[in-house]
Amino acid sequence: MTFDLATASNHLASTSQEWWRSAVIYQVYPRSFSDSNGDGIGDLPGITARLDSLATLGIDAVWLSPFMRSPQKDAGYDVSDYKDVDPLFGNLADFDAMVARAHELGLRILVDLVPNHTSDQHRWFQDALIEIEGSAERDFYHFKDGRGLNGELPPNNWLSLFGGPAWTRITNPDGTAGQWYLHLFDSSQPDLNWANPKVQEAFEDILKFWLDRGVDGFRVDQPHAMAKAEGLPDHPDVERAGAGFIEGEASPPMWFQEEVHPIFRKWRKILDSYDGDRAMCGEAYVLPLTFMAKWVRPDEFNQTFNFRFLNSDWNAKTLFDNINESFEAFDGVGAPSTWVLNNHDVLRHASRFGGLNIKPTDSDGVGPNDPQPDRELGLRRARGATLMMLALPGSSYLYQGEELGLPEHTTLAPEFRQDPTFARTNGARVGRDGCRVPLPWEAGVGAANGFNQTGKSWLPQPDIYAEYSRDQQDGVEGSTLELYKHALKVRKELALGEGSFEWVNEFVGEKVLGFRNGDILVVHNFGHAPIELPAGQIIASSLHQMTNGHPLVADQTVWLRLVVA
Ligand code: BGC
Repeated sequence: MTFDLATASNHLASTSQEWWRSAVIYQVYPRSFSDSNGDGIGDLPGITARLDSLATLGIDAVWLSPFMRSPQKDAGYDVSDYKDVDPLFGNLADFDAMVARAHELGLRILVDLVPNHTSDQHRWFQDALIEIEGSAERDFYHFKDGRGLNGELPPNNWLSLFGGPAWTRITNPDGTAGQWYLHLFDSSQPDLNWANPKVQEAFEDILKFWLDRGVDGFRVDQPHAMAKAEGLPDHPDVERAGAGFIEGEASPPMWFQEEVHPIFRKWRKILDSYDGDRAMCGEAYVLPLTFMAKWVRPDEFNQTFNFRFLNSDWNAKTLFDNINESFEAFDGVGAPSTWVLNNHDVLRHASRFGGLNIKPTDSDGVGPNDPQPDRELGLRRARGATLMMLALPGSSYLYQGEELGLPEHTTLAPEFRQDPTFARTNGARVGRDGCRVPLPWEAGVGAANGFNQTGKSWLPQPDIYAEYSRDQQDGVEGSTLELYKHALKVRKELALGEGSFEWVNEFVGEKVLGFRNGDILVVHNFGHAPIELPAGQIIASSLHQMTNGHPLVADQTVWLRLVVA
């Protein structure tokens, strides 16, 4: 195992003022955040009512997962009207009220834009179904004739990311079997044809609709999927790559096509034509990061999610390499690196680090029949990981509930599962519901601990969630919530997000990682043996009992202001 410090990355403090370069952005998953009307599904008024608690937490911006009109086949990532709020979540007036309140509190709002696919209930798709082959309506999507004697075989070998083929055959209005349409995700999520200028225009209009309503930007879903290789050729390596790609090998025909870049440049121009500093973050799943960096060139996305960091095993060598790769790639194009440990698609880090060596990418959830993570170990490591992340310069993403140290719901019974992955794989992949369970706010208030007053909940909470409720942690020294609050406060005071980065040689090795951000030394202990620290003032510690002069124990992260001789 080599830690090559000679070629490792340094990063200079940022001189740019743009908020998104160092922002802490908190992801709200609307259906599980807070439910004002008691129907068991969170809503926009519920979010508005609880925005104060996010301001108190100390974040800068909120990214909301989709709340637009949708049949909810993929929890809102199947949009049937991009310019309206789904009645489940409220209406446009509720949205405006939420934005106004957020801005009053100094919080920015980013909304999720889902451009790769619509819902099959979207008017565009419904029109395409009733129109004839080759019509302008069909050209909004990828409709193709099937292969085989009677078109009974899918047009190519592409697979859906949620399991099964990426094609579904339609039935013509006269009852005969028709063409096939492409869906890289669920069959209820037909892929749009981004080579069609009308699709491009429609989305420019959608961007303006939300910008006019005052949003500060967008999180863009699956942007790397939007353009497809001309002619939709077979995936060259479905056997090995499945629905995905193999890093370092030629890109498959449905991912990372160059044609997407002019589209994002146009979008960026639109954002920049508005006042304020509007920003867009792409969920560009493009690796290695030197490839991803192309997506954050100065005239494209402002940010992309750092999936390399998210997918890191929690060990010193992997993190050392991944952090180096991050700074090298993003600094190379003048973009901030982002850092993220959780979102609504991956196993919560308090469970992921619970001793089972689960990678977010290959876990696909943990079910009641799987080995169960160690909760205590997981939380201890998760706290250490977060404290390390929040000291890294750049922008950090948090996912609702991680500030409570919430574990994944790993014992959710099959009858509650709603993620399409579960059904499409006959339960072989349990899917992502376990990280999407409604938040516990007040222990014992209804069966869902204050998520609402009725106790209804679209996914039931496990019993253990009561002890993680926000009211059980608020103001309680040593709680995970207080750790997050403290770290975010200090991060802001010391401008760590805009700060510099360099490894500290004596704290780089198999069992330890340490770096400096300005005059703050950040060290994490990956081993069991206590680590002696230099003299300094403890500014933050992931474990409660840390006091000056004590060695760093297993899984602990500390921020230390060095004593200048
Ligand atoms: C979202 C997922 C969603 C998928 C399809 C993503 O990457 O984060 O939740 O299922 O795109 O829209």
